[in-house]
Amino acid sequence: MNITNKQDLIKQLEWRYAVKKFDFQKKISKDDWAVIEKSLVLTPSSYGLQPWKFILVQNPEIRKKLTPHSWNQSQVEDCSHYIVIANKINLDQKYIEDFIALNSKTRGIPSEKLEGYKKMMIGNLLHGDGKDRLIEWAARQCYIALGNLMTTVAVMGIDACPMEGIDPIKYDEILELEGSGYKTCVACAIGYRSAEDFYAKMAKVRFAAEQVFIIK
Ligand SMILES: Cc1cc2nc3c(=O)[nH]c(=O)nc-3n(C[C@H](O)[C@H](O)[C@H](O)COP(=O)(O)O)c2cc1C
Repeated sequence: MNITNKQDLIKQLEWRYAVKKFDFQKKISKDDWAVIEKSLVLTPSSYGLQPWKFILVQNPEIRKKLTPHSWNQSQVEDCSHYIVIANKINLDQKYIEDFIALNSKTRGIPSEKLEGYKKMMIGNLLHGDGKDRLIEWAARQCYIALGNLMTTVAVMGIDACPMEGIDPIKYDEILELEGSGYKTCVACAIGYRSAEDFYAKMAKVRFAAEQVFIIK
């Protein structure tokens, strides 16, 4: 099914920009949020392991506490929905086994048939070269979720600002992530641009396709 024509897709990707000033009175509807939530859940990840949590911060007091640890960026408090994406930091054999059990149940595949898949994940992630980079690997998966989120909302005509200008250690404290097995990776403010945000009118600064593509 083709839900959009190709020109509309490019139009929306050009329409989107990293919003500096949100209209704090305009909120994302429940129905739209349900689509965004589903889109985050549907994000693909390496091996399918989904090593993330999406923390939706709607409590104004908590957002207020986050602002000084977000370079005082107004988006934290002015956006409609503020999402902090946290990556898993303690992925272990049990997590992989639980995931295999879910896979088996969901697809109706006997777990013995998934033994090779399980061993490959355990070998590569927990014992192989990947083991020292496991946390960084999980963080990279979170950026896939961020990209997916930004494209989804752009197609829906909803604005966003990806937020790396944050102090992850302070975020972990405020969001009480210590001991949870997750730590703050990146955040994204979503909502509707303020008519006063002059960044909306700025041209996109992008390298030409010839500069970023290497054709072999
Ligand atoms: C991972 C990531 C983190 C970013 N962090 C911030 C941020 O903290 N604050 C901000 O205003 N913009 C932030 N940006 C926005 C970029 O500066 C912006 O996407 C880039 O300049 C391209 O402009 P455009 O998105 O408006 O087309 C971030 C973008 C990405 C992808």
